[in-house]
Amino acid sequence: MTHAIEVTNLTKVYCRSHSGTLAIDHINFIVRQGEIFGVLGPNGAGKSTTQRMLTTLLQPTEGQILINGRDLARDAYPAKRQIGLVPKESNIYTELTAWDSLMFTGRLYRLSKTDREARAQELPETFGLWESGM
Ligand SMILES: Nc1ncnc2c1ncn2[C@@H]1O[C@H](COP(=O)(O)OP(=O)(O)O)[C@@H](O)[C@H]1O
Ligand SMILES: [Mg+2]
Repeated sequence: MTHAIEVTNLTKVYCRSHSGTLAIDHINFIVRQGEIFGVLGPNGAGKSTTQRMLTTLLQPTEGQILINGRDLARDAYPAKRQIGLVPKESNIYTELTAWDSLMFTGRLYRLSKTDREARAQELPETFGLWESGM
């Protein structure tokens, strides 16, 4: 079976300074389908850098990332459609109402207006938030 994630010789050098910072140095790992995989390390270990490269927010300096067998460098769109990222900082626009926020997100995912509105009603109901006002 294809691995969910397969990382080979992944490397990142940040080039802000003249010499560059070697943030990730040829790391290799596999995440199997259905596996829960954690990354632990002290500040500066490279966790965020790795996560940004896995989600296409940052380009690797070297190495290969396969998501469900597809090379992220060549064919990122199918992988992006399967990625769900929950960052530690809230990425909600506080100037939007809850309803507008769901509409905005639905549009980013290219849902039709009918589907956006159906999902924007269904999700708050599922989590018991509908009554608190949208
Ligand atoms: N945007 C950046 N520019 C230059 N260096 C960076 C940048 N982001 C992170 N680094 C450096 O890369 C290394 C790994 O950082 P990071 O991935 O943020 O680690 P962690 O998330 O594990 O704390 C650190 O040395 C950090 O200073
Ligand atoms: Mg971090």
